[in-house]
Order: sequence, then structure tokens, then C-alpha cells
Amino acid sequence: MTDNTNPQDQRLARTMEADQAAYLPVFGQRIPLVFDHGQGCRLTATDGQDYLDMVGGIAVNVLGYANARLTDTIARQAARLIHSSNLYYIEQQAELALRLTKLCGQDRAFFCNSGAEANEAAFKLARIYFYRQGKPRGRILSARQSFHGRTLATVTATGQPKYNQPYAPLPPGFDYVAFNDLTSLKQQLTPDTAAVILELVQGESGIHPVDQAYAQAARELCTQNGSLLIIDEVQSGMGRTGHFLAAQGYGIKPDMVTLAKGLGGGLPIGALLCREQLAAAFHPGDHGSTFGGGPLCCSAALAVLDEYERLDLTHQANLRGQQLTSGLRQLQKEHPLLKEIRSAGLMLGADLQEPLAVALRDDLRTQEHVLVNATGPATLRLLPPLILTEAEAELFLAALGRGLTRLEARA
Ligand SMILES: Cc1ncc(COP(=O)(O)O)c(C=O)c1O
Repeated sequence: MTDNTNPQDQRLARTMEADQAAYLPVFGQRIPLVFDHGQGCRLTATDGQDYLDMVGGIAVNVLGYANARLTDTIARQAARLIHSSNLYYIEQQAELALRLTKLCGQDRAFFCNSGAEANEAAFKLARIYFYRQGKPRGRILSARQSFHGRTLATVTATGQPKYNQPYAPLPPGFDYVAFNDLTSLKQQLTPDTAAVILELVQGESGIHPVDQAYAQAARELCTQNGSLLIIDEVQSGMGRTGHFLAAQGYGIKPDMVTLAKGLGGGLPIGALLCREQLAAAFHPGDHGSTFGGGPLCCSAALAVLDEYERLDLTHQANLRGQQLTSGLRQLQKEHPLLKEIRSAGLMLGADLQEPLAVALRDDLRTQEHVLVNATGPATLRLLPPLILTEAEAELFLAALGRGLTRLEARA
């Protein structure tokens, strides 16, 4: 990593020292920046330097930074009531459940605090649904190269041994299918398969959308087998692909949908949405959460949904996604280093011919003050705020072009 630490930046130096002394080293050597504040799609570091953010807190900051409606709502709600308890009814939770089920074409919602918890809830609901019928099914299938979270069950469902192997013994009942491969799915769908969990656009592994035919056939195969189809929209949901859910773009109706990341505009909230038929399997006490669905996070999510409507963000994601995709394809013609471009709205992945993603990320940060994500050694990932403007997208493309030229000159 290019170290651009400014020795004058005492806040950065103190933070790095404290982190290295006291924080679990799970994030390794981080990018040497501490952000002080943000506005729109721009983040300002503690040394005063301003950055164009094409990462958006990894698909979390859908409204960018300092959105007035969101910050006012949070401030007002925090002053009134941060937490009561799920022992009582919660106004904002009930309203959010109504709005989100409508937007997702589902019947019931449950709120938790993260994507992993939302997927955990989906696995529990799948298993208890068959248990209640007296015909237990335990098997849960997921795709290779998928990412579903870091808890023991979700890391097991994550089809990447590097993430789950060290935690053996892993919870039983999980198995894997090849990504976007119907033959593999057909082979693995056994009578004891409770559910199949899929990302329609795999995010963490570098933005890989499944084919339309695969999504439709997966839906049909699950129905034929009596298995539930869970679509993990933690990264792809909230309008990012140009539809509120990626599943809506594919024209399929899942039995369960999980959301998190962008839902709270930066506050931690996850959601499980499901069909009415499944909901009754959970009896009181079968599942729950202390913090999940509290007034503060739910009021933030309601403000996020208000802004979606006001700013037509799903449509915006589509427009800016098209602009970035065609700009990247243009750059591909000029720069042989840029190998493959994959996108679904504002989820974009670009493979480099050589494992230079980290070098390009660091070049763009230090030379252009543009933030991008390197997911894997040869893949750049872009998940910008959905409020990205046309001018900002152009600015990014120009910066990337210069970055590629510099990298090519060095090679
Ligand atoms: C598709 C998908 N599912 C689940 C998760 C886990 O979400 P969280 O980190 O909020 O637990 C992620 C996180 O990156 C994700 O991309």
C-alpha cells in the first residue's frame, strides 16, 4: 500500500497508533485515512483533504453524507427516544414494516441489526417452517463465491472456504452449488433441502450477476422441490441495481428477501421480509432481538425511503450505472489493462489484466483523491452513493483514465 500518511496529521497518527495497540487486527493494515465529515458524495479527511467517494461505505451510504432529511430525522428522534424495547409496540417499526413489505412485494418484516443477522433469521425461518409441518428439512444451499455474513451460520453459507474453514466444526446442513449453474442446482436440490440462498448479483466476489434464465429456473426448481428461495439483497437491494430489489429486475418473487447496508442510510438495521405463508411458523418467542427495529434506526430507514421517492433514486442508480458502464467500456478500448467490466446499476466491477487492483486503488486515492474498493487482487469494485451526479461520474472516469495511464507507464 502506498503510505500517504501526512506527518502533520496528528489525529490520523494517534488513531493508527491506538488501533494498532488495542483493536483486534481483523482489518489488517487499513487505508491510512480518518474521515472527519462528509457532504454529498465527498468525504473530508482529518488533514482537510477532500475525496470523491465511489465506495459509499460499501453500499451503505446510499444518500451520501449529511443528507438534511436523514440527519434531522436522526437528531430529532435521538432527542425524543433512542430505544424502548420490543416488549412494547414501536411506531416507527410498524410503519417501516408496512412500507418495506409493499416496496418488496412481501407480506411480513422482521428487523435486526445487520445483513448477517437478517440471513440468520431467514435460515431459522426456513427450518422452523418445515419443522412446524412435522416434516423437518435442514439443508440450506448457497453458491460458491457467495458472501452472506460473518456469524457461524452465515459464514458457513458463504461459499468461500477462506472465510469459514478456520471455524470448524461448522454448523451442519449447509452445502454449495456452482455459481450460475443450473445443472449443479438440480443435482443438489434434495428432498431435505429447506432453502436456497442466492445473491442475484454477487458483490463481495467482484460483482457477478447471474443470468436471467438461471434466476428464473432457480425460482421454478425451488418451487418444484418445495424448497424456499431466499434472495440476499443486503448489497444489491435498496435500488442499487436500478430496481428496488435486484429480484424485481429479474422478475422473480423470492419466498424471503434480506436487506441491510443501505436501509438505514448508515445506521445499523437489517431486515428479513417474507411471504405470509411462512410468517406463522415463528411463534412468539421463537426469534427476537434486543436492538432490532428500534425507534432510532427505523426512523432513519423511513427518512431514507422518503428520500428515495423524492430523489427517484432507483431511476438515478440506473442512469448513473449506464453512464459509468459505458464510460468504463470506452476506457477499456483505450487501456488494455482493463479486462472485463460487469455491472448492475450502481454495482460495478472491473477486472484488471494483472493483480494491480490495490495499486490502482492507492494511485487513485493519492493522485486523484478518489476512493474505490479493491475486492480481490485484480478487481475494482464501485458502490457509490445513489446520489452520485453526472458530473461526479465523469470526474471519476477521467481520474480512472489517468490512473490507468500511470499504471501502464509503470508496468
Ligand atoms: C450479500 C451480502 N450479504 C450479507 C452481508 C453481511 O452483512 P453485514 O456485514 O451487515 O452482516 C454482506 C456484507 O457485505 C453482503 O454483501
